[in-house]
Amino acid sequence: MADTYDFGLVGLGVMGRNFILNVADNGFTAFGNDLDEEKVNALIQEGGNTDKVNATSDVKTFVNALTTPRKIMLLVPAGKIVDSVIEGLLPHLDQGDIIIDGGNSFFTDTDRREAYLKEKGINFFGAGVSGGAKGARRGPSIMPGGSKEAYQHVKPIFEAVSAKYNGEPCVAYLGPKSAGNYVKMVHNGIEYGLMQLTSEIYDLLKKAGGLSNAELHETFAKWNQGRLQSFLVEITSEIFEQKDDLGDGDLVDKILDKAKQKGTGKWTSQNAMDLGIPVPTIDVAVSMREISALKEERTQADALYDRPTPSAVNKADFIAKAEQALYFAFIMTYAQGMHQLADASKEYGYELELGEIAKIWRAGCIIRAALLADITNAYRAHENLQNLLLAPTFVEKVKGTVGAARELTAYGATNGIPLAGLSNALTYFDAYTSSRLPLNLIQAQRDYFGSHTYERVDREGIFHTEWEE
Ligand code: 6PG
Repeated sequence: MADTYDFGLVGLGVMGRNFILNVADNGFTAFGNDLDEEKVNALIQEGGNTDKVNATSDVKTFVNALTTPRKIMLLVPAGKIVDSVIEGLLPHLDQGDIIIDGGNSFFTDTDRREAYLKEKGINFFGAGVSGGAKGARRGPSIMPGGSKEAYQHVKPIFEAVSAKYNGEPCVAYLGPKSAGNYVKMVHNGIEYGLMQLTSEIYDLLKKAGGLSNAELHETFAKWNQGRLQSFLVEITSEIFEQKDDLGDGDLVDKILDKAKQKGTGKWTSQNAMDLGIPVPTIDVAVSMREISALKEERTQADALYDRPTPSAVNKADFIAKAEQALYFAFIMTYAQGMHQLADASKEYGYELELGEIAKIWRAGCIIRAALLADITNAYRAHENLQNLLLAPTFVEKVKGTVGAARELTAYGATNGIPLAGLSNALTYFDAYTSSRLPLNLIQAQRDYFGSHTYERVDREGIFHTEWEE
């Protein structure tokens, strides 16, 4: 065993254990801490073939074994536990030590903790970590925010353990304060949108296209070879292949259609509303999880109303349109998330570089996709790009696929297949690209009943009319 350790990690659940083993694989010595002796022993056993890993349930022993400035990452559930772990560490820390919260903490909690610890001379980082258990072990995408100077101590370790895209590490210093947690929150909002869209395309292919699970597997696997190449499309193709180990048939058909959530998608939506940034595909992805939870009510209502039988389609043509529509809607979802980041950066002083963010999402994280290489290039070419839809390189991609999105949205509406994500992606596109919207009427109504005033298209100033009743 080593005498001192380069890196400390609190929280030896699956993510923590995998992350620490990843750190050790990359040549650093790492010390784990958890109150649960079983988890401590599990790590010692798993890391037993190396002298680079050790663990203890004793906080003082843990802190004293780390080289200064100490670099201590927390991989514990977001919320009060983070605060209590910090309080437990504090008496043993020295000025200049670094605590990194790697969980999905709410960004204002990170701001509060950062300010609190700054007073005590401790550097605090909110670092989003994406990629699930496998990512933690083999290379996640890491989104750190906090003090730029302190990041230099963490940088070599994070760059070594992170996923690589063409050799480039999927980690970068993102900005001060809660920038890292904020970016991870929006990552998750995008994740919700992409997952909702994928489920809608599955519904269409199954109900209208009549595709079997084997055909769905083949279709998504083929799409994953093309422009839709992404982690979520890849795992979707694999899901359709999985047999049920508790009975006959395919597992996907046995899974209850109620989607749970831990809150990061909802936070993205809520904060977008606060900022006044439209992210309708993400909003509706949250709403659809909420509707899915109402299984009993849905079942009662299902018996009360008729639903059209989906009209016949040309299968090959329908699959091709589905690919185009999904690609279109994926673009809209990334566009909305990036737009939110652009505005949040101004509002909260994060100084985010959107090209850097897209760059570190190209591998390791849940929303990694071939599209992110194009998004990275678009932001590299136009640093202050306000929306992806304004990037010249995206115009042709959108023009070539919007027709299919229209056709499938119309098909869903006519045939009673709910396409909340796709239709909202299309509406977002149609609205964002309209120089004239009918909201002049809303202004007239507001002025009519509440004297709220309006502006005019033909002259400057604020106007009010005494409307004739
Ligand atoms: C990731 C994921 C992860 C998230 C899960 C579950 O990037 O690795 O975003 O952080 O916790 O996806 O999220 P929900 O339970 O809210 O679906």
